[in-house]
Amino acid sequence: MYAQMIKTAHSGVHKREDMTEQERAFQDRIDAGEKIEPRDWMPDDYRATLIRQIGQHAHSEVVGQLPEGNWITRAPTLERKAILLAKVQDEAGHGLYLYSAAETLGESRDELVRLLHEGRMKYSSIFNYPTLNWADIGAVGWLVDGAAIVNQVALQRTSYGPYSRAMVRICKEESFHARQGYSAFMAMALGTPEQKRMAQDALNRMWFPCLMMFGPSDKDSVHSEQSMAWKIKVATNDELRQKYVDQTIPQIEYLGLDLPEAGIVWNEARGHYDFDMPDWSEFFNVLKGNGPCNSDRMADRVNAWEDGAWFRDGLMAHARKARARKMAAE
Ligand code: 3HC
Repeated sequence: MYAQMIKTAHSGVHKREDMTEQERAFQDRIDAGEKIEPRDWMPDDYRATLIRQIGQHAHSEVVGQLPEGNWITRAPTLERKAILLAKVQDEAGHGLYLYSAAETLGESRDELVRLLHEGRMKYSSIFNYPTLNWADIGAVGWLVDGAAIVNQVALQRTSYGPYSRAMVRICKEESFHARQGYSAFMAMALGTPEQKRMAQDALNRMWFPCLMMFGPSDKDSVHSEQSMAWKIKVATNDELRQKYVDQTIPQIEYLGLDLPEAGIVWNEARGHYDFDMPDWSEFFNVLKGNGPCNSDRMADRVNAWEDGAWFRDGLMAHARKARARKMAAE
């Protein structure tokens, strides 16, 4: 369904004077803070925008397992291994909640996966960067999941009921993820001089890719204006990015590390940190598929899907037999 609706998902901002009566009534519900539920009437492009965002979000959770899954066998202690295993497993669960939320909009998980594998849907840019060592794994938990939480806490208030409710549960688990990351990272930052050097290097490399997670700056964000009007998004990309910077700088200072770039300065008048924006040409290049790990990530996902075909077939055969047995007994 989304494949046919892709144009609708990019159809621009709706003006009240151009809306039909039904669309105006829908907008009034949104403005009054009501949640929209699966059986409620909704404009096609509200549905398409949600399928795009929820589908992309689900893909991010699933692809996001790869950079960390790669380190489960190499975690430095049994305790860290068990924690990382639980965390990566949670990400698979988050993917499932989100694919289920997309199903309530009439889009199947198989179709979304197919569109991802054909390169017609995106996943978060951050997962196209490598995890080179154990300090990177701490940094992913702390900085990447930390960024995801800032975005997802806001999304708990999104207007679509099933998405909003999925976010409540996901945020609880994400806060464990960020805390375990900070704990692993702190052990490195407060460790030997070599460990501290590794922690600083991980922070420096991941800083700008993490800022990119919030999407392009507001002036270049294609969907923000309409998504904010529909309360699919409740804060803009730049607002959330600022919130993330403001909460993360004191954590970096607590660890005794250098700030990752020279532009970070507290601005008393604004009551926020000033900071440099990432190189947006790098961001758009990663979105086009040219990041350091895009082709590896997609190859891993496509192989996993193809290698799992026998298992999905087995489950379906079992379900068919169980149904036939049940019907015969009735
Ligand atoms: N990575 C990949 N694509 C991105 C992106 C990013 N970081 N930021 C923006 N984009 C894409 C958009 O999807 C859009 O693509 P399209 O034009 O082909 O549809 C385009 O860039 C323009 O950006 P917009 O700002 O107009 O797009 P949105 O209004 O959708 O805002 C968003 C982008 C803020 C990421 C929003 O989609 C969102 O809040 N999504 C839900 C949260 C999410 O997907 N998080 C992913 C990380 S989850 C995670 O990290 C797992 C955790 O467990 C670690």
